[in-house]
Amino acid sequence: MKSQIERLKKEKNAVILAHYYAPAEVQEAADYVGDSFYLAKIAKQSTADIIVFCGVYFMGESAKLLNPDKKVLMPEITADCPMAHMASEETIDKMRKQYDDLAVVCYINSTAKLKSKSDVCVTSSNAVKIVKALPNKNIFFIPDKNLGRFVAEQVPEKNIILNDGCCPIHAKITAEQLKNEKAKHPAAKILSHPECEADILGLSDYIGSTADIIAYAAKSESDEFIICTEDGVNYKLITDNPNKRFYYPEPHPCCADMKLNTLEAILSVIQAENNEVSVDESIRTGALLPLEKMLELAK
Ligand code: 13P
Ligand code: SF4
Repeated sequence: MKSQIERLKKEKNAVILAHYYAPAEVQEAADYVGDSFYLAKIAKQSTADIIVFCGVYFMGESAKLLNPDKKVLMPEITADCPMAHMASEETIDKMRKQYDDLAVVCYINSTAKLKSKSDVCVTSSNAVKIVKALPNKNIFFIPDKNLGRFVAEQVPEKNIILNDGCCPIHAKITAEQLKNEKAKHPAAKILSHPECEADILGLSDYIGSTADIIAYAAKSESDEFIICTEDGVNYKLITDNPNKRFYYPEPHPCCADMKLNTLEAILSVIQAENNEVSVDESIRTGALLPLEKMLELAK
């Protein structure tokens, strides 16, 4: 199947992008693997005619916004991030009326519609830097309350208003699960994604995006880690660090939507060129602006 994918990729000038949460065999077959910020940058720079995006819908949608003339295909078009819908346009309008200088900061894990109502996008690897760089004192951070709270702690000079959304996968990790794992591996360092709840972050030795966690584990002198994020990162962690050990809270955090990206689905989508991502023309420009502002401010 891999050789068929390779052949079709060359024939059609297609490129495969995969998030670190995609299944191992998909990461292995991809041309580029990374966190959501890296993948947005790669999508923007791509010279391919077809981008096959192995992630969830907001990722494919962001790639399409940045590349309106390219075909962006998703192996499984229903792969979605529930958190991307957890903010409301009405609340954004209400906040804008309440604060004259409000900046609406939108985590990239959001629908194009929500992006079109926002001033700037961020990802977990650049949110602190971008919020610090904004001239606005009042920030409405959507949709993730956990990343928002983490940013607020790092940027105390701003008034960051939180929204009631979160990642159901990261929010399910409990302090009890983490403490159980720590009891089994007392020397292990705890590395967590900022989408985790406050008590998990409070117990952590390091907090960062998937790419930051992977970079930290490689540089660290420790050889045992408890990883509080989706277990798809394990493929890269064990490939880069064959002598280190990685443990996860039980049950392992697993994003079912990310796991819909299979080799079979990739082959089928390159063959049929179906499952094309499209963005409604009425919101396209409005949703692109905050993404471009993110790429500019994160430089
Ligand atoms: P990253 O920004 O680390 O890629 O995380 C994206 C995500 O969906 C986390 O759940
Ligand atoms: Fe969305 Fe959570 Fe899945 Fe990331 S892990 S894509 S935030 S549901």
